[in-house]
Amino acid sequence: MSATFGLSLIIAMLEILAMAGFAWAGGSEVFQQNCATCHQSNAEGVVGLYPPLADSIGRYVLIPKGRAYLVSVVSFGMMGTITVHGEQFDGMMQPWQSLSDQKVADVLNFVLTRYNAKLLPSGFTPFTADEVKKDRAANIAMGNMLKEREALMKSLAAHHVAIP
Ligand code: HEC
Repeated sequence: MSATFGLSLIIAMLEILAMAGFAWAGGSEVFQQNCATCHQSNAEGVVGLYPPLADSIGRYVLIPKGRAYLVSVVSFGMMGTITVHGEQFDGMMQPWQSLSDQKVADVLNFVLTRYNAKLLPSGFTPFTADEVKKDRAANIAMGNMLKEREALMKSLAAHHVAIP
């Protein structure tokens, strides 16, 4: 391999990393502007009020249903009692239909890579606007999202995926 070729390869790789960084930097902004009020800027949530997203949702993406759930819960909202890290939360999250497909992809990638790195499978494929668009077409009513989450928990258990 020639030195010039080696160098251009390294530059190309750095460019790809920079592009990925940009996408997730966008996710950071979406998160701070729309989600941090409740889930807090470190995604730790507030005991009894808002569930943490840190070190909790990372394993959902191990099965396709979990990827679809994450897109759905952000897009369609959710209400009713859920348990996270052994704590109960009985709140309501509004639907985020106002966020573009790209922004939903970015914010999920940000929360997953930044705050769930320990749980994320090594071959994690980032969400794209196309995937978000496809799952958003399911158009699930907010009142049915809790059932979706319960079904997801059952599927994860059936796949022997432990959720912390
Ligand atoms: C007004 C407060 C509020 C805001 C703002 C908010 N959420 Fe939520 N979020 C909640 C509550 C409350 C729940 C749990 C709902 C329940 O108890 O059924 C939740 C649940 C979730 C879940 C499901 C967690 C799980 O373990 O299943 C995800 C993912 C999530 N929110 C992501 C986001 C993202 C991303 C944003 C920003 C675009 C956001 N939230 C903005 C209050 C909020």
